[in-house]
Amino acid sequence: RAKRIPLIAGNWKMNFDHLEATYYVQKLVWLLRDARFDYSQCEIALMPPFTSLRSVQVLVEADKLKIHYGAQAVSVTTQGAFTGDVSADMIAHLGCSYVIVGHSERRKYHPEDDANIVDQVRAVLAAGMQPILCVGESFEERRQGIELDFAVGQVRDVTRDLSATEAAKLIVAYEPVWAIGTGMVATPDTAQQAAKAIRGDIAAMFGDDVSQTVRILYGGSVSSKNALDLIEEPDVDGFLIGGASLDPDEMARIARIT
Ligand code: G3P
Repeated sequence: RAKRIPLIAGNWKMNFDHLEATYYVQKLVWLLRDARFDYSQCEIALMPPFTSLRSVQVLVEADKLKIHYGAQAVSVTTQGAFTGDVSADMIAHLGCSYVIVGHSERRKYHPEDDANIVDQVRAVLAAGMQPILCVGESFEERRQGIELDFAVGQVRDVTRDLSATEAAKLIVAYEPVWAIGTGMVATPDTAQQAAKAIRGDIAAMFGDDVSQTVRILYGGSVSSKNALDLIEEPDVDGFLIGGASLDPDEMARIARIT
């Protein structure tokens, strides 16, 4: 992992209005400053709802904050009559570095299938940002013992037509659905096995250099209580955090552990 800087990304999901977002960012940055946090050793990203991106951008730019941010979803089209959609260029113009793509909640509550997710990945890359591609089995696949094949297959289905240069820009988040928001965190060994299998398949598709560049995050009930054991695994390069990321104290603690 020597070359890969860990990434701690807070997925706020549908939480906080722009005023709360402003307060949160100030508090988090203050906590990290107080702890003399070394941003060169660990990258921090926040993924607010669309309505707070501009507020986060203003703070980050005004105070030259060393945090990154991104969006939770993106349209596959560039512009036009698509009511309610937001394009990758619009997101990129707000200074976003990342876009979450294929989160299990999007796959469940919106008509997002693999074809659509491939188009989102392409749109994000074309706009100069990095997709955080979420994959992970449900409890049923785990019961059947096919969880690794399932997660690896999800990555493969989305990336098979990418070039090696495009694939190198990918971030993968392994988020087993049974661990999301349940308090049932994967064991470090489970997270490592999945991350290792995904990295192995990326190596088979795009070569070792790409596979060693791609960061693979773990997501699912991450907190300051379990982060240390998880991050010690060699193929776990950070976290995509839901519930715990809503508390800036907890986010700062996880960042310091990592
Ligand atoms: O994207 C992060 C996520 O789905 C995990 O949520 O609340 O289990 O940390 P949570």
